[in-house]
Amino acid sequence: MKKILVTGGAGFIGYHLIKKLLEDDKNSEIFVIDNLQRGKLDENFSSIVSNKRIKFIQGDLTDLDFYKSLSNNFDHIYHLAAINGTRYFYEIPHEVLRVNTLTLINILEWIKNFPVKPKFLFTSSNEAYAGALETFKQLPIPTPEDVPLIVNDPFNPRWSYGGSKLIGEIFVVHYANQYHIPSIIVRPHNFYGPRAGEDHVIPALSLKIIKKMDPFELYSPKQTRSFCYISDAVEAMVLLMRRESIFDNKNVDLFHIGSSKETSIKELAENLFEIGKWKPKKIIEKPPLPGSVDRRLPDVSKIEKIVGWKTKTSLKNGLRKTFDWYENL
Ligand SMILES: NC(=O)c1ccc[n+]([C@@H]2O[C@H](COP(=O)([O-])OP(=O)(O)OC[C@H]3O[C@@H](n4cnc5c(N)ncnc54)[C@H](O)[C@@H]3O)[C@@H](O)[C@H]2O)c1
Repeated sequence: MKKILVTGGAGFIGYHLIKKLLEDDKNSEIFVIDNLQRGKLDENFSSIVSNKRIKFIQGDLTDLDFYKSLSNNFDHIYHLAAINGTRYFYEIPHEVLRVNTLTLINILEWIKNFPVKPKFLFTSSNEAYAGALETFKQLPIPTPEDVPLIVNDPFNPRWSYGGSKLIGEIFVVHYANQYHIPSIIVRPHNFYGPRAGEDHVIPALSLKIIKKMDPFELYSPKQTRSFCYISDAVEAMVLLMRRESIFDNKNVDLFHIGSSKETSIKELAENLFEIGKWKPKKIIEKPPLPGSVDRRLPDVSKIEKIVGWKTKTSLKNGLRKTFDWYENL
């Protein structure tokens, strides 16, 4: 039986990843650690946790004592736990930095002593290179993995998150090299789908449409993002984890995961108005939050080439599934 650990597994990506692992990998036991800071023991998560192949452990990964209760023989570790959600970057930047960095350091310190090292996947973020995009204005679009990573303004609380991911990548690279931990880093780009909370742009717009809010506030309509449906996203993560050759590399490999389709927030809202069969009479356009980049589009040719991954869900279909889920909440 393979032993898989998913940290932050009660959250958005974790929940869908666990579902995928349960379906795909019948010969595995899945351990889930989450302190429920953001993830919830809601109906969806409780029903998945009732599966006898899942063991849910509620605990805080910043607490060193917590690790004493854990076994040290996992085959795969997907490290997702972090404080995520744009609101928190501005409201509690010190906690974002502390939790995101400390959870990662503690985990790396824990697994460096495993008798057999697990395969380790760290979820960084597109925000790790957002500072470079903001500063140089001319990074290649679509953006490949090997662009510079910078924090362009330590006084802007938004960079607490990007900064924690940037330093996280460096931690993973050097712990992996020093302690021979077979590791990869992925940078998710705007994953969306059911059970994504209420803060991400797609749930937030969907909920405002469901509530028929008029006038309708639309933040940064001209900005563009690439939106990747969650089932495609978790498939990418699992494919990477299963590809032995990636872990044979001397260096830690880094992959962008996202869609190649660039969509403006205005276009996104138009799509959702159509799906919701409702449109406000008045739209109030609001400026972007400080530090939010104008364009973001990942170059995903590396993951496509190495594991043959391609997104399967069109934006229209993904938005419809997501909207329907929020409508039936
Ligand atoms: N959703 C995206 O599009 C996206 C984009 C870029 C990066 N990421 C990264 O992917 C990972 C998962 O993202 P998500 O969208 O599922 O976020 P999420 O907030 O839904 O999930 C993170 C989970 O970590 C848990 N957690 C936080 N602090 C913890 C601690 N100290 N101990 C144990 N658990 C803790 C939270 O309770 C939550 O359930 C995060 O690292 C995030 O930064 C996500």
